[in-house]
Amino acid sequence: MDLLIPDKVHDESRQGEALVLNPIGKNNGRKLYIESYGCAMNFSDSEIVASILAEKGFETTQDFNNADVVFINTCSIRENAEQRVRNRLKEFAGAKFKNPGMVVGVLGCMAERLKSKFLEEEKLVDVVVGPDAYRDLPNLIDQVDDGQRAVNVLLSREETYADISPVRLNSNGINAFVSIMRGCDNMCSFCVVPFTRGRERSRDAYSIVAECTDLFNRGYREVTLLGQNVDSYKWSNDTEQVNFANLLEMVALVNPELRVRFSTSHPKDITDEVLHTIARYDNICNYIHLPIQSGNSRVLELMNRTYDREWYMNRIDAIRNIIPGCAISTDIITGFCTETEEEHQETLSMMDYVHYDFAYMFMYSERPGTLAAKRYADDIPDEVKRRRLKEVVAKQQAHSYIRLQQHIGKTEKVLIEGFSKKSDNDYCGRSDKNAMVVFPVDERFKPGQYVNVLVERSTTATLLGRII
Ligand code: 5AD
Ligand code: SF4
Repeated sequence: MDLLIPDKVHDESRQGEALVLNPIGKNNGRKLYIESYGCAMNFSDSEIVASILAEKGFETTQDFNNADVVFINTCSIRENAEQRVRNRLKEFAGAKFKNPGMVVGVLGCMAERLKSKFLEEEKLVDVVVGPDAYRDLPNLIDQVDDGQRAVNVLLSREETYADISPVRLNSNGINAFVSIMRGCDNMCSFCVVPFTRGRERSRDAYSIVAECTDLFNRGYREVTLLGQNVDSYKWSNDTEQVNFANLLEMVALVNPELRVRFSTSHPKDITDEVLHTIARYDNICNYIHLPIQSGNSRVLELMNRTYDREWYMNRIDAIRNIIPGCAISTDIITGFCTETEEEHQETLSMMDYVHYDFAYMFMYSERPGTLAAKRYADDIPDEVKRRRLKEVVAKQQAHSYIRLQQHIGKTEKVLIEGFSKKSDNDYCGRSDKNAMVVFPVDERFKPGQYVNVLVERSTTATLLGRII
């Protein structure tokens, strides 16, 4: 699922983060603990869950031992993500042993597949809730309070949670995720998302603009529009049809001081109209996450990606022509079923063609129920997958470094996000092209303001400079 947000949510340090909010409405005396794994959409969903439960008076806590309700919002995308969630559930089961009134629940992508295992066989949880059933949570918690186990994993063709105003969890008050669509109709053969998140549906464009306007009025200065495949966004009412290019423009017009990012783009669907819209508005960031998965056309066909190597290169050329200097990142899978050494070399040569600024790189892991699991043998030995991954990672490291070096001596417009992780004497923030920039604090400027930073040097992943 093409939905990882570079250095924000995919950041390993955020995986499994306990999310804390301030209560809204009346307090019911019960405490909620919620931990999220996986993609940006999952983190965004946790904010919807928190909003639904805050309405019912739940306050949040950062310590699951003190919580009355403990939720884990799960990811199924790769096997190791599932393993981490399982281990965590065992820890929660330990806490429940000491506090038997505690309600433990699994939300999100693992819900459908593992519901009977978690509820009945392993008895690890009391409640299992799929990504389209969060409105039902208060009822389900009541059922558990009445001594039953509760489950709702129904997927919906309509649910977009359009009317729910997400409670911003652990927010810095500057960047926010805004979900614009749910589900995916693409059926890439390696991917569980169409099964765990259901059919694609787009959210009312005006509810998106209203949410972004409200965020801006509350001081937020950057929104990231989220969808599994944002380029297939399509919404209409009686009088108009809104596609993704139109939506980008509507959000850009909220205010020129509001930065607009988006993820994820799909190579088969990204149009020149979208690229021209990005080029036309200064506040739409010049950064596109465009997962390639493989550089070889035969493997792409087996993956059911519905584009080939030439098509992808053509899209890269269009980006370079229409938005000169645009940063591009990608996702790559090594060792997909039957991938030969020559085909792997084509992934490496594609990387040379694009010179990605950033990449998320994975070994193929077979997921139960996917088309690939049904049709193809997972026949590339682990050590081969791993060696190919190593080669891809080494190349990307070299490319990322070269890309960072290209910024040295240039001035970047940076949105200050806060103090740097390492020191309160430094601010950090991201450039339009999504590079992390660290620079000494200047008291005249505060987080949420834009500054021009002269880039003087870089580490392996960060630009260093000073405000000018
Ligand atoms: N094995 C390995 N990587 C996968 N991804 C999705 N499914 C799998 C899988 N079964 C990767 C893809 C996707 C990213 C979010 O995760 O590269 O774009
Ligand atoms: Fe992304 Fe394809 Fe999965 Fe859809 S099916 S979420 S496009 S990888």
